[in-house]
Amino acid sequence: MYNTIRTIKTAIFISGRGSNMETLIKHSKKKDSKSQITKIFSNNINATGLEIAKRLKVPKTYYFSRNVFEKKIKKNLVDIDLICLAGFMQILSPAFVKEWKGRLINIHPSYLPYFKGIKAQQKAIESHSTYSGCTVHYVNKNIDAGKIIIQKKIKILKKDNTESLSKKILKEEHKLYPIALDMVVNKLLLNEKNI
Ligand code: GRF
Repeated sequence: MYNTIRTIKTAIFISGRGSNMETLIKHSKKKDSKSQITKIFSNNINATGLEIAKRLKVPKTYYFSRNVFEKKIKKNLVDIDLICLAGFMQILSPAFVKEWKGRLINIHPSYLPYFKGIKAQQKAIESHSTYSGCTVHYVNKNIDAGKIIIQKKIKILKKDNTESLSKKILKEEHKLYPIALDMVVNKLLLNEKNI
């Protein structure tokens, strides 16, 4: 009988605060989770997320500088099934993105396709939009343009500014990313079954 529990070994790439990373780690530690966050990679040695990851006992944390990042992570990814970008501020090469097609996801603080790129919350405020949101999507070679996995709309009130909107969005990101992780993990496991 086939009864070994297969979990999706997941790596998270970060550059800073790491609050989304933290929610993913905590989520994957829950009973019955089919994902396991085994490695955190940062391209910023001062990322507070690295400390959080160590505190939460993620088995391995790595720092590699931006210019050697892709080259250095390669050998550490051989046992990884899925990569989640969480506040990772570096554009990955088209070759890397191609290699990880369908297994590389990102969270963005806007209701894509609106407000791509950096300062998405500021762009939403400055455009006087009535809503923004957050989106988890697959990564392709174009920035914030890969297939959408799940997204959530958030109202922008007249009294909102970049700071208040950023707070509201982040709160929703923390709910959305774990849901997206489960969706992708289930899909990967289903694909394996069907092979
Ligand atoms: C989040 O708003 C995420 O959407 C964006 O960068 C921010 C990262 O925050 N890509 P944190 O590092 O997860 O706290």
